[in-house]
Amino acid sequence: MSSVAVPSVPLLRVENLEVRYGGIRALRGLSLTLEAGEIVIVTGPNGAGKSTLMNSLAGLVKPQGGSILLDGVDITRHAPERIARLGLSMVPEGRHVFGSMTVLENLRIGLGARADAKSAPLDLDYVMDLFPLLRERSHSQAGLLSGGQQQMLVIARGLMTAPRLLAIDEPSLGLAPRITDQVYEALLRLQRERALTLLIVEQSATRAALVGTRMLMLREGRVVLSGDPRSISAQEIERAYFGFDA
Ligand SMILES: Nc1ncnc2c1ncn2[C@@H]1O[C@H](COP(=O)(O)OP(=O)(O)OP(=O)(O)O)[C@@H](O)[C@H]1O
Ligand SMILES: [Mg+2]
Repeated sequence: MSSVAVPSVPLLRVENLEVRYGGIRALRGLSLTLEAGEIVIVTGPNGAGKSTLMNSLAGLVKPQGGSILLDGVDITRHAPERIARLGLSMVPEGRHVFGSMTVLENLRIGLGARADAKSAPLDLDYVMDLFPLLRERSHSQAGLLSGGQQQMLVIARGLMTAPRLLAIDEPSLGLAPRITDQVYEALLRLQRERALTLLIVEQSATRAALVGTRMLMLREGRVVLSGDPRSISAQEIERAYFGFDA
């Protein structure tokens, strides 16, 4: 029996994205597709364009060319708040917390972009379950938290808008492996329990193989490798990373 193929719209489709900073071409016709439920690990050398991609998705950087479609809706030139309201939340590199505000106040700021504020307390409870340390420290000043706790806080804040797609730029940077494990355990739980799709910039290929359903490597503003992180060989990764001819 033959079935008619119904074209499905991917959760995220990026086509031919071009971003320049003055004379620097940070993204050079970058294209990628994300299906709902995937955990995609983005890797690649310094300066490959990983953060530029994340910032473009969130509306923080305006591309000069190409398009970004979220669930088929063109968000390429939308303002960040509008993108967040449509279900894409991005946690930037660097763990920016409001240091003199409490953990709870930091989380409430994340609610600003939310369309339906009524269900907010439920989500706050859920993220506190996800990161019990944040519940314990909910009245502490965010600036006094450890690096790992601040990372949990910025992820939790990103969740307050109830996204369908959560993009995170280098969550494990500078964290002890045990703390990184805790962060990833929470992310995997989110993917399971909330059907969250994850796009995570992560330098460790080992971590990618542990948690990723797919690995994407960027180099010089393009995707140079995409595949199952458990079946890509170390040699393929190395070649793509350094740009050697296969
Ligand atoms: N605000 C900016 N102004 C000018 N050039 C920039 C800016 N941000 C990034 N770049 C340049 O764009 C290119 C891509 O940078 P980007 O930060 O996206 O790379 P990355 O893959 O995130 O690197 P890293 O692994 O170091 O975080 C680099 O050449 C970088 O120097
Ligand atoms: Mg970066």
